[in-house]
Amino acid sequence: MAQGWFITFEGPEGSGKTTQIALLRDYFARLGLEVVTTREPGGTPAGDRIRSVLLGNETGSLEPETELFLMLAQRTEHLHKVIHPAVAAGKVVLCDRYFDSSMAYQGYARGLDPQKVRDIHAQFLPGFLPGCTVLLQIAPEQGLERARHGGRKQHDRIESEALEFHRRVYDGYNSLAQQEPERFVVVQADGDPQAISARIIEGLKKRLTFPDGNK
Ligand code: TYD
Repeated sequence: MAQGWFITFEGPEGSGKTTQIALLRDYFARLGLEVVTTREPGGTPAGDRIRSVLLGNETGSLEPETELFLMLAQRTEHLHKVIHPAVAAGKVVLCDRYFDSSMAYQGYARGLDPQKVRDIHAQFLPGFLPGCTVLLQIAPEQGLERARHGGRKQHDRIESEALEFHRRVYDGYNSLAQQEPERFVVVQADGDPQAISARIIEGLKKRLTFPDGNK
């Protein structure tokens, strides 16, 4: 491919993005595509350090704007140093969370104006939007239980927010998907991982031209 693909995965906590990214990576590799997997917050050395400030419980509370600017800072590094170069080299980038997480979490859930969140990205990160976004939807109660691995894993700073916060994340994602149906592939995230993967691939095929002769 002359120009690669930039595909992001989004969803509330515990929506199974990690499993689905691994399945899609293997599928694309079988088609002979070169795949890069990455995540946010993170994806670069500076981004990983910013991640520990954002998610560490020892950070305590942050102003919504502070949280947004830290997300934007790690994204700027990630987009310039990892995502754009890989796509320009013809690779497929599968990114676990990206811009829509800032819309859902800092915008809809923390209460910052979503239009302002969108505008600030457009201003500082031209060409920042992915070609396709897979939204794995799961009810917050169910997702949080899965994210906790049945209570065995400690919550990070954002996961620890109240259920009401996570309901706003869920609703925010639905609004985003409704606003851009051509970019979003929405798949319900409960059920058999292989069946979910098949639905994701079906949705992507409607939006991207896959290499010939492969199923
Ligand atoms: P992570 O451990 O990667 O969680 P998950 O497995 O659910 O993806 O934590 C990422 C957290 O950061 C998650 O709670 C969502 C949050 N986040 C934002 O609030 N805004 C953002 O822009 C991004 C990229 C993530």
